[in-house]
Amino acid sequence: MKIFIDTADLDEIREACSWGIVDGATTNPSLIKRAVDKRGGNVTMEKYIREILETVPGPVSLEVIATDAEGMVEQARLLHRKFSPYGEVVVKIPVNPSLDESGTRDFDGLKAIQTLKNEGIPTNATLIMTPEQALLAAKAGASYASPFAGRIDDYIRKRMGLRLGVDFQKGDYFDYGLVNALVRARLKDVMESKTGPLSELYSERDVREVLAKAQDNGICSGVDLVARIVRIYRNYGYKTQVIAASIRNARQVREVAEVGVDIATLPFNVIREMIRHPKTLEGMRRFTEDIVPSYRRLFK
Ligand code: G3P
Repeated sequence: MKIFIDTADLDEIREACSWGIVDGATTNPSLIKRAVDKRGGNVTMEKYIREILETVPGPVSLEVIATDAEGMVEQARLLHRKFSPYGEVVVKIPVNPSLDESGTRDFDGLKAIQTLKNEGIPTNATLIMTPEQALLAAKAGASYASPFAGRIDDYIRKRMGLRLGVDFQKGDYFDYGLVNALVRARLKDVMESKTGPLSELYSERDVREVLAKAQDNGICSGVDLVARIVRIYRNYGYKTQVIAASIRNARQVREVAEVGVDIATLPFNVIREMIRHPKTLEGMRRFTEDIVPSYRRLFK
């Protein structure tokens, strides 16, 4: 599995690249904003992005800001032309750039992806929340597809009535194994009071609600979303690579690796979390205490 760093902060990018584990980077307007804010707004954007590209030893995703197909294609060409001399530019295109419910822009992302593919400009279809969107992105010719695992976990937790910042924090692991067990137990309770035939049970609102609230239209978690996309792409041999995005903790990284995702794009703090374990720390301290002088002298 490749690891990309999900940040636009050059200090973080430089440090993570020095660890020898970074294969690429992903940015988006929110990450650029965070990096710019950190420098008190003092950033010359062109120079800054150039430095990111020169630092990262692999593809760097840069996002367009237009929301219509033509505008996105133009911006993608500009990004590609301007920054390709400094590194490997991938253009991030929202899979569905609509800003309202009218649906008029629903397919503009796919149109842009298709045009850019024909021009040889690699794309990363972003803001993917369903396997269906991922399937369409692959068919349109996206080089990468980025399902947002953490945001789906947030969405399901919200449907269950859990509040971000109150009942759980952004980096908390979403224990969908526990949720599944709770759902089964709750269903058993609900069923016990019902005596009708299966057809009746199937349509009972309270039976359906138990399930519906613990998932997003059949998706049980962000990792489940990633796993299903990986499976669909492998079923049909799509070349589009899956980037597990919106990753919030080390355990999610383990799980997306277990399902065979091509790439995980990770915030700096998640990479840091991956290297730590209290027993590793304890072991290091013990080894250090146990060094006998004659062994230490070997290294003098
Ligand atoms: O990779 C997408 C990512 O930057 C979004 O992360 O944690 O804001 O959902 P998050």
